[in-house]
Amino acid sequence: MSIRQLTYLGNPILRQGAAAVSDVHASDMQTLIADMIETMQAEHGVGLAAPQIDVGQRVIVFRVPEGRGSTEILEPQALINPEITVLSEEIELGWEGCLSVPKLRGIVPRHAHIGYRGLDAEGRLIEREVRGFHARVVQHEVDHLDGIMYLDRMKDVSTLVMESELFRFLPPRPPAPEESSP
Ligand code: NI
Repeated sequence: MSIRQLTYLGNPILRQGAAAVSDVHASDMQTLIADMIETMQAEHGVGLAAPQIDVGQRVIVFRVPEGRGSTEILEPQALINPEITVLSEEIELGWEGCLSVPKLRGIVPRHAHIGYRGLDAEGRLIEREVRGFHARVVQHEVDHLDGIMYLDRMKDVSTLVMESELFRFLPPRPPAPEESSP
């Protein structure tokens, strides 16, 4: 396993869209997933999409840490060829950051309730119905596979702030950086 170099906003691969994975069992796929999880953890992120390490394939990894308003904690999980189904009209606003856009946070509207499906690292079908932070991180990462950045989803760019100023907007408990950069 190794930590891969991240790609940053401005790198064309983040805008190109990623190709479907045809062989989940290829040995390089196992290496890719292991490296993505290691890189996500090393960068204190909660999610990472393959284009963020310069790989144009439809693979994401993510986790749901404690204290994000979800009852369920999810250990780092890979999802290959993910698909999202919107399950309600409800939209929630929440702060997001991105490892490919360092030091910034912004308020992003997301669907509050989604279903998702895809394959795990062993090629098994995963199907879940999720809400809140879990739904948010999956939408953020799947967007990366379609060349979409969270900045594109923002409705009010005046909410784009430096991480170091975020405490002004979340008075009681500013999140530590390691908790919320997908
Ligand atoms: Ni991101």
